[in-house]
Amino acid sequence: MKVGKKVTQAVHDKGGIIFAQLWHVGRVSHTSLQPNGAQPVGPSDITADNVKVFIETGPGAGALADPSEPRALSTDEVGELVTMYAAAARNALEAGFDGVELHCANGYLVNQFISEHTNHRDDQYGGSLTNRLRFLKEIVAAVSDVVGADRLGVRFAPLFASTDETRVYLGLVESDPHHTYVEAVKLLEQAGIAYLSIAEADWDNAPDLPDTFYQAVREEFSGRIIYAGKYTVQKAVNILEKGYGDLFAFGRPFIANPDLPERIANNWPLNEVDPTTMYGGTDVGYSDYPYYQE
Ligand SMILES: Cc1cc2nc3c(=O)[nH]c(=O)nc-3n(C[C@H](O)[C@H](O)[C@H](O)COP(=O)(O)O)c2cc1C
Repeated sequence: MKVGKKVTQAVHDKGGIIFAQLWHVGRVSHTSLQPNGAQPVGPSDITADNVKVFIETGPGAGALADPSEPRALSTDEVGELVTMYAAAARNALEAGFDGVELHCANGYLVNQFISEHTNHRDDQYGGSLTNRLRFLKEIVAAVSDVVGADRLGVRFAPLFASTDETRVYLGLVESDPHHTYVEAVKLLEQAGIAYLSIAEADWDNAPDLPDTFYQAVREEFSGRIIYAGKYTVQKAVNILEKGYGDLFAFGRPFIANPDLPERIANNWPLNEVDPTTMYGGTDVGYSDYPYYQE
């Protein structure tokens, strides 16, 4: 059995549901990771700053490097990428996933098309907001055709400018994130997708999303809304009670606590995550965190 199928089978055996996230990093890449050492691609030839990429230095070993200078995709290549998203969605279903999520967050390819700072195109994929949202609209339509809109989620990171410019995630800021992302959410509502996943800023002292944004998203989107980013139970309950979100996702606490739901339900203490092992290639820091023992 192929590895993907083993994973989805194991999740289904325990009554779980599993979606595959489709992720194209775009310009946040390195020539050593590309076929034949080619340049990474992006909407425009603007190199990413304020971010490092993880490159392989040997079997199971890696290092952080500056992203390479990208080359701008041709209009035809953008169309080919839309087709590739549909193919990836078909592969995900073939591997037993219940649905797919489009990674449109954190400064990666779709985010690069949306932001006016990384998209300087003069074809139908650049310029006006409608044009900058076109790639998103086309991949949502293409992937919906494969998996069904009711099995499709989209993840955004509508980061609201931080006072500390050095911590702007992957170097991407919007000049009007509220307008940009509310328009993007309207597009997803029209497409009828199952859920919207919003990644909030997650570094120490990160700014909170404004209440007006939570409210606008709720008003425009009738599907399920998931929030993540430094959530505690208390923060999740607060957002739930205000009616802004339906589900809350935990990242680092889940890495460090294989039994996170039980720990939360029973008010047990949490293991601390070790950030130095978060991106490694072995079971250390991946599958060796202890379960709670009374
Ligand atoms: C090791 C690691 C890997 C991650 N990989 C992804 C990813 O592949 N896709 C994604 O959308 N977010 C990814 N994230 C971000 C998390 O989904 C989440 O938004 C972030 O960790 C904030 O939540 P937390 O404060 O509960 O950790 C990753 C985070 C970590 C720590």
